[in-house]
Amino acid sequence: MLFYREIFSLLPVLTTDRLILRKMKLSDARDLFAYAKDPEVSRHVLWETHTSIRQSRRFLRAAKRQYRLGQPCSWAITLKNSGRMIGTIGFMWLNTEWLSAEVGYSLSREYWNRGLMTEALRAVIAFGFDTLRLQRIEAQHTLDNPASGRVMQHVGMQYEGTLRQRVKNKGKYEDVKLFAILRTDPRL
Ligand SMILES: CC(C)(COP(=O)(O)OP(=O)(O)OC[C@H]1O[C@@H](n2cnc3c(N)ncnc32)[C@H](O)[C@@H]1OP(=O)(O)O)[C@@H](O)C(=O)NCCC(=O)NCCS
Repeated sequence: MLFYREIFSLLPVLTTDRLILRKMKLSDARDLFAYAKDPEVSRHVLWETHTSIRQSRRFLRAAKRQYRLGQPCSWAITLKNSGRMIGTIGFMWLNTEWLSAEVGYSLSREYWNRGLMTEALRAVIAFGFDTLRLQRIEAQHTLDNPASGRVMQHVGMQYEGTLRQRVKNKGKYEDVKLFAILRTDPRL
């Protein structure tokens, strides 16, 4: 338990070819608001479309609180070349008894379809198995968001089934497709 608290407090930086995943900070508010105000980005995730930069600051303060408490949390996805924050990815929950966890992510629309989330998710899955010593990592997406399912498949996650009315998103119950990868599965 302490092990996970320490790791989530620390949240080590992860580096990929084009990205640096690091802790969110309050100075990311402008970059975050630039994409979180886009309803096309927030449509498929559980947070509401940001309507003001104050809301983005609140989001960042909540993330910082999770770091402080050592709770499952997300990285800022930043571009290596500019430092700009263009999304988030991280752990929604983690079960310390079963060593399972769920990942979630979102990306600025400006950067969709360049393989960036696949790159970020691959790094987070490696962190989950190699550093957190997890046995199973899950992810889920609503039926109208097949692009997210493609990202999951790209990294070797397998489709396990459809869960009916599993989430309530923007006031509406929605079915989700559940994907998972085990530590013994091939990573792609
Ligand atoms: C889903 C999301 C994370 C994908 O990120 P991304 O960086 O564009 O993903 P990648 O470029 O790595 O891969 C996207 C894949 O989806 C495919 N795709 C894109 N739009 C699609 C669509 N409408 N239907 C089916 N596949 C689609 C792309 O072709 C690509 O697959 P391919 O490489 O096999 O051709 C991004 O669109 C996003 O942040 N959306 C809003 C928030 C969100 O949905 N978060 C996930 C909640 S589960």
